[in-house]
Amino acid sequence: MPGYKLAIDGPAGSGKSTISSLIAKKLGWTHIDTGAMYRAVTLLAIEKGINLNDEASYRFLESSLIHYDSNRIFIDDRDVTEAIRSEAVTHHVSLVSSFPYVRKKLVQLQQRAALNGNIVMDGRDIGTVVLPKADLKIFLTANVEERAKRRFKENVKKGKQAQISQVIEDIVNRDQKDSTRKESPLRKASDAVELDTTYLTIEQVVNKIIELTDKKENNHGV
Ligand code: DC
Repeated sequence: MPGYKLAIDGPAGSGKSTISSLIAKKLGWTHIDTGAMYRAVTLLAIEKGINLNDEASYRFLESSLIHYDSNRIFIDDRDVTEAIRSEAVTHHVSLVSSFPYVRKKLVQLQQRAALNGNIVMDGRDIGTVVLPKADLKIFLTANVEERAKRRFKENVKKGKQAQISQVIEDIVNRDQKDSTRKESPLRKASDAVELDTTYLTIEQVVNKIIELTDKKENNHGV
């Protein structure tokens, strides 16, 4: 695996994608948002009208390419970056991502995408399953009120209406499903560095992770 591999995991709203994207921009690395990939599968499943509870119905993945590139997510050549943020997708994505078949397919794509170059990959199982040999693993946390506040602000910016109590409920539900599912649940890898971002700004988190990346890079030569 030539190149530096940085794995960033954490629960919904912990800032993974924003932070990963900023780190990638600052360092000139490639960012891969694996949550966006699970969302793309969910969108496609809804569009196809399959029975979302039936794992065998997801065989359509044999002939669809889910691809993340330069902050955009594609199904084949179709850009679905905005469409994957819909309420329907957010509501069903934990179910869709719980199926071993779906995970196997996406993990294959993610590992292939990370083969070459310097990569920042964010998700729920990057340090534990997708890149178990990553050079640095970060596990981001923040208390649920703070995470809900961040999501709420994002929603308002995008012109979406939502009650903060509803956002908290969605986050708690998703955390519960993502961390208790049988297949690759959300879990901190034993060798991951845990960073509580509740009282930190985005800039502080980005700088802290870059600092840790530098240390690890320097250690390589020792
Ligand atoms: O990061 P996000 O909220 O956009 O992710 C959406 C969902 O995808 C999340 O609720 C769980 C699932 N997911 C996963 O199971 N494994 C990953 N590596 C990334 C996301």
